[in-house]
Amino acid sequence: MSTLQSPGSDRPVRAEAVVDLAAIRHNVTTLRARAQGAQLMTVVKADGYGHGMIPVARAAREAGADWIGAAVLEEALALREAGDTGPIFCWLTTPGEPLEDAIAAGIDLSAGAPWEIDELAAGVTDRPARVHLKIDTGMSRGGAVPEEWPGLIRAALREQQTGRIEIKGLWSHLSSSDEPKSVANEAQLATFTEAIEVAESFGIDAEFKHLANSGATLALPETHFNLVRPGVATYGLSPFGHTLPSAELGLVPAMTLKARFAMVKRVPAGAGVSYGLTWTASRPSTLGLIPLGYGDGLPRHASNGAPVQAGGERRTIVGRICMDQCVVNLQDDQAAAGDEVVLFGPGTAGEPTADDWADAAGTINYEIVTRLGARIPRRYVDGGPA
Ligand SMILES: Cc1ncc(COP(=O)(O)O)c(C=O)c1O
Repeated sequence: MSTLQSPGSDRPVRAEAVVDLAAIRHNVTTLRARAQGAQLMTVVKADGYGHGMIPVARAAREAGADWIGAAVLEEALALREAGDTGPIFCWLTTPGEPLEDAIAAGIDLSAGAPWEIDELAAGVTDRPARVHLKIDTGMSRGGAVPEEWPGLIRAALREQQTGRIEIKGLWSHLSSSDEPKSVANEAQLATFTEAIEVAESFGIDAEFKHLANSGATLALPETHFNLVRPGVATYGLSPFGHTLPSAELGLVPAMTLKARFAMVKRVPAGAGVSYGLTWTASRPSTLGLIPLGYGDGLPRHASNGAPVQAGGERRTIVGRICMDQCVVNLQDDQAAAGDEVVLFGPGTAGEPTADDWADAAGTINYEIVTRLGARIPRRYVDGGPA
């Protein structure tokens, strides 16, 4: 009997992403130790990097995460609605969004421009908005550039004096922590340190200062301050890819993506495969049809090269990945419709990893797991076999 079964039923499913919550807890515990006394914010944006935001946030809290990090308001509010009463930080909003809901829910918000301070102040009803001021230390994404920093501070102090906002944090984000030796890290750290000094010269004594994502939490202890914000490492994936694999960092990949063959067939030499016939069998071959495609989040760029594990063997996707399906060359293996195929997992049983898929697609492990769509059911296990 296949392990791919519909929840609460013995009917098999087409495909599933199995998420090991024990692995999430283990990774959070590992990251807490690496944070060396700084508080830990587990980043669960983008549906927990594809793993499921609410189950991941719960597991992270169980393992001692002090904060949960969300990018957008809907995520932060959904966490509160799911019963998370702890500190939540949310950093990406656009003009006119319902900040009042987030303020009323006690969610910490970011401001990187005076107009954002004005919007936050306008959204206040019965409790002050908890605000973290963002300095752009060199990534040119969100936040005030150093020339704008004093203006942002003045706007925040003005509203703090009215009692409408509370300045809780000062923060920024690193562009290059996946390359710990990059001079960009040093430069951003220096700019952040100066920004803190400027804020202090205005009399701001913010409780939290934070800069470090996964790469910096693991490799740049000087960037920890008193709060770190790792995302991808929570899921057991290395921010350094193959350069420093997750096992060497003590991390356990939490997700295994599996499917069942929808069809297995023997084709003669010369048979072309999938749209555009970009692969042709050089000899009689057995092909397995995987019922997953780019409509489920598989990267089309991984066509003709992505690895899978079928019948205990490493095999390769041949031809183009379609919207709902792709084809694997099983060579002369014995296989049948309904047999299990593992696309990626922790790699401990010989299966490919998200890093292997990232290599095949010319991308990063983050994108492989985060893109997986809602058509793939997530099944949660707790330390059991995937
Ligand atoms: C502001 C911010 N903090 C933290 C993170 C977590 O980064 P990582 O997944 O590299 O640890 C992200 C993710 O991109 C982010 O945008």
